[in-house]
Amino acid sequence: MKIANKINITDYLVGGELKEWNGDKSEVFSVIKNENNLPTHLGTVPSLDEDAAISAIEEADKAYNRGRGKWPTMSVQNRIDCMQKFVVEMEKYRHEISKLIMWEICKSKKDAYKEFDRTIDYIKDTIEACKDFDRKGARFIKEDDIFAHIRRGPIGIVFCLGPYNYPLNETFCLLIPALIMGNAAILKPAKYGVLFFNYLLKAFKECFPAGVVNIIFGRGRAIGPPIMKTGKVDILALIGHSSSAVALQDYHSDKNRLRLVLGLEAKNPAIILKDANLKLAVDECLKGSLSYNGQRCTAIKVIYVHKNVIDNFLKSFNEKVDELIIKNPNQEDAFITPLPDPKQPKYLKELIDDACLKGANIVNKKGGEIGDNFVFPTVLFPVKNDMRIFHEEQFGPIIPIIEFDDINMPLRDMSDSNYGQQVSVFGENSKELGPLVDALVNLVCRVNLNSSCQRGPDVFPFTGRKNSAVSTLSIYDALRSFSIRTFVASKDNRINNDLISDMTKTNKSAFISTDYLL
Ligand code: G3H
Repeated sequence: MKIANKINITDYLVGGELKEWNGDKSEVFSVIKNENNLPTHLGTVPSLDEDAAISAIEEADKAYNRGRGKWPTMSVQNRIDCMQKFVVEMEKYRHEISKLIMWEICKSKKDAYKEFDRTIDYIKDTIEACKDFDRKGARFIKEDDIFAHIRRGPIGIVFCLGPYNYPLNETFCLLIPALIMGNAAILKPAKYGVLFFNYLLKAFKECFPAGVVNIIFGRGRAIGPPIMKTGKVDILALIGHSSSAVALQDYHSDKNRLRLVLGLEAKNPAIILKDANLKLAVDECLKGSLSYNGQRCTAIKVIYVHKNVIDNFLKSFNEKVDELIIKNPNQEDAFITPLPDPKQPKYLKELIDDACLKGANIVNKKGGEIGDNFVFPTVLFPVKNDMRIFHEEQFGPIIPIIEFDDINMPLRDMSDSNYGQQVSVFGENSKELGPLVDALVNLVCRVNLNSSCQRGPDVFPFTGRKNSAVSTLSIYDALRSFSIRTFVASKDNRINNDLISDMTKTNKSAFISTDYLL
């Protein structure tokens, strides 16, 4: 594959200015091989230092001005106007952004475009949901002799960090609701999937007031801690690994001030009951465990199969897995693609070796084939709880399979697990499924009946129990996560009633308003 143009990002966005960076930079490579069979050089990004990181939080602090800045006090309609302007700008770069996602994180071309389109839809839907929130708040309620005008207000400064598997979508699912609710943000892109920001820096600069959006580049370890140590971050919004979330929180001097919006790792199981439709179960498990090479927090990461159907399930699942072909992401119908993190093949091999040493076998013919930028999907059976693959989130194309006789076994494993995002359950008998669902809904936050796990549609709540998430994301819930209820109370007397009446008529306050946003 040949890249058309290299991208060298030279600026970062702080305080409404694109600042040129003359210090260290990082080379960006794609693991996709060039004509010399080497990783393809895609460009460079600035590697900012501590001072630059601190300047970002200082500018965000100035823009927010403890809730008195232009952005947090602006009317919702005006904030929406800025967001609409931004989305128009962003849409102009659909091809450039999608192609860079494809190159950097090796997501198939089709899925890279899907990520872009889904993000645009998310922004537009968030605007609509925000109007709806505003309409609900455009009224007074009265209790005893007090009128209350209740709305949702911003929290402050949001430090936003997204993951490499959805570097645009998941990062923006944090950033966009945070902004539209009136917060100021500092965004640090994921470790892979960063070059497309080249096309967005100017749009962010032009569409939002100075300091409201600050975009900084560099190593998380170099720029995350100084930002947190200032104690000025009000919300840590991170989709990624719990170890990063914990480390960043620990730098904050005032934990009760810090709100957390986190989407973390998961180990979602699929449970195949004895009466399951095996064809459906095989197809959904294949998609669920291997879409984007299993590099999704929602991927099925372990499959429990009832002993009566294990042989049939394994036979047809392995056949389907072995039919897959590793392709470069630009190829038509690419499904299994190279792994963007050069360290991942080695890590996955360690998991496979550990399982095999402890009694598991690679049960599909092509399983265990590993190169410097790929791992062929590998089915491991029988997997036991002393193996690393049983506990660790593989985030790659390894599918551990466990046989069960008694449903209490997977239920016990799920209770003992440190994760609790979703489960897929395959079966057709309502007598068995009814009580099972009642147990499962209390172990995870989404039970998928006869279908694979997934985040979407984005109107549904996306969250998890235990170490899988803190707070809930969805178009509606994210607006809540990044805001707080705040209200004006006025005793029913002449002075107050005249004041309120005057303010609603003359639009002297952006908050006190009964205007309906259409
Ligand atoms: O990595 C976690 C993503 O939120 C998964 O989203 O289920 O739409 O692929 P998805």
